[in-house]
Amino acid sequence: MTKIFKAYAPASAANLSVGFDLLGAALKPIDGAILGDEITISNEDSEPCSVEIEGKFAHKLPSDPKKNIVYDAYLMYKDELQKRGLKTENVHMVLSKNLPVCSGLGSSAASVVAAVVALDAIHGNVLGKEGCIDLMGRLEGKISGSIHYDNVAPCYFGGLQLIIEENGIISTTLPDFDNWYWVSCFPGIKVSTNAARKILPTEYKRSDVITYGRQLATFVHACHTGDDKLAAATLHDVIAEPYRASLIPGFTEAREYGKTLGSLGTGISGSGSAVFSIFEDLDKAKEMKEYLERNFIANEDGFCHVCKIDRQGAFAKEL
Ligand code: HSE
Repeated sequence: MTKIFKAYAPASAANLSVGFDLLGAALKPIDGAILGDEITISNEDSEPCSVEIEGKFAHKLPSDPKKNIVYDAYLMYKDELQKRGLKTENVHMVLSKNLPVCSGLGSSAASVVAAVVALDAIHGNVLGKEGCIDLMGRLEGKISGSIHYDNVAPCYFGGLQLIIEENGIISTTLPDFDNWYWVSCFPGIKVSTNAARKILPTEYKRSDVITYGRQLATFVHACHTGDDKLAAATLHDVIAEPYRASLIPGFTEAREYGKTLGSLGTGISGSGSAVFSIFEDLDKAKEMKEYLERNFIANEDGFCHVCKIDRQGAFAKEL
């Protein structure tokens, strides 16, 4: 019997200034635009796994689909099923690569999450949420050199995620703020996470460590108490932004312009080059979008959206 599922995995912003490697939010444009990767999976193909790639950013990926992370996802998924004594179906996967690579929008995470969600859907969800997130983290680690869940967790679970990695818990959903609009802008230039990690110090000053702990703890407290003003007051990055800002032309100016519009915080999205800027006022968010489109976007690959947090995260539906 032919089965066909379509999986969607949203863009995400990691770090959020205050939670390096430990916070991330899934994003959804308010105008209904698609800001995420999609995979259509079907069974009954003659090969064990074939992959086709289409979409706006398909041309930025290796031309051999077997070099795509989606194919790695199939191989690792197959291993997981083998460990459970189960057989993998022959599958055909079509990846719609809608997110630019090395963008700071969780592009590789979105492909990984969409692939695992699609594979698990067609196999009757045998891995379940815990098995899936574990596999997604390992796949993402394969690409970026180390396992960090701050893109895969928000992409998969949706919402604002705090990474826990203790007592068998990978991450937990924090209450987010309904009144926040997130302007997310990709300028069109690539910044590799690997390279952006290499320029960070290997050790930090005690005062920065204390500031980081204080701000993150306060942000989490503010989320739980619904204190949006307090949460906004903590949005200052002492870990990555001082070292990475120079990789992103126009970032410092954008942050300053955001302040003049009353932004609650403007920061680097993940390891860049995308930036995010948070507003309570939708008109101001739209003004920031116009500024970024005029002054920050460097080429035709760039784009900007006013978003809300995507609380649904990744999902698959049967076609
Ligand atoms: N938190 C990572 C970094 C990027 O800033 O290097 C996203 O996983």
